[in-house]
Amino acid sequence: MQNQIQTYPNYPIGFFDSGLGGLTVLAEIYHLLPNEHLIYLADSKNAPYGEKSKKEIIALSIKNTEKLLALNCKIIVVACNTATTNAIQLLREKFNVPFIGIEPAIKPAALKSVTKKIGVLATKGTLSSDLFAKTTENYRPTHTIVEVEGNGLVELVEQGKINKTEDLLRQYLKPMLKQNVDNIVLGCTHYPMLIPIIKKLIPPNITIIDAGEAVAKQTKNILTQQQLLATQIHTEKHQFFTNGNNKEVLEVFLKKLLITDCSVQQLDF
Ligand code: DGL
Repeated sequence: MQNQIQTYPNYPIGFFDSGLGGLTVLAEIYHLLPNEHLIYLADSKNAPYGEKSKKEIIALSIKNTEKLLALNCKIIVVACNTATTNAIQLLREKFNVPFIGIEPAIKPAALKSVTKKIGVLATKGTLSSDLFAKTTENYRPTHTIVEVEGNGLVELVEQGKINKTEDLLRQYLKPMLKQNVDNIVLGCTHYPMLIPIIKKLIPPNITIIDAGEAVAKQTKNILTQQQLLATQIHTEKHQFFTNGNNKEVLEVFLKKLLITDCSVQQLDF
């Protein structure tokens, strides 16, 4: 049975990710919906989710959702492909609030692809999920989908060591380039932080696809449909919580993403 949860338009939008990657999704919503008050949980203590079992990912997703609901969030953005593909169905069954998820943008990549060959860089947890299998099923007869696990990338991003990802990326992009893909889907919210490096490693005719902007539009649509769009500009600062030792890295990323007007705290949750 679901608990009844009261939500109001001027309550905050809640986000969670295994760490700092979901900031790339939050940034899209921050710029699209400037009236909204945003609360972000970086579960960095438990990153990476991509190496965990479905059961563990579900338990962590429930814990994060409960924390965001305790902070009065009106809608939850699961700003993590791994948590979305493994846990969103259960979250929707368990909690009576709207959830927005993010998953690898296979459809737009497949539709755009001229070579009918697309690459997907994502975590092991995402690539092995039932939802990913279902999403890709329709395109397998007509397209070659080159799936590569981005092992080790999340850890480097969490430490703010973006420049140290180049060797791993070169290795992960190699099979995609070999197969002549013309679209590469970034299936993990940490990876858009690596776009400048990825661009150096691939020919300019390859399109990089990330679902962040589509998620922001979907969030706006759902808030509009449910009459939950903020009716006044937020008065409180946006709040960012991390349970890892990476408060400074979080602050650097917020600056890079042009997110101001915020408070950052280390908190155990
Ligand atoms: N940012 C995540 C995702 O989108 C999580 C990666 C991880 O923790 O392994 O998949």
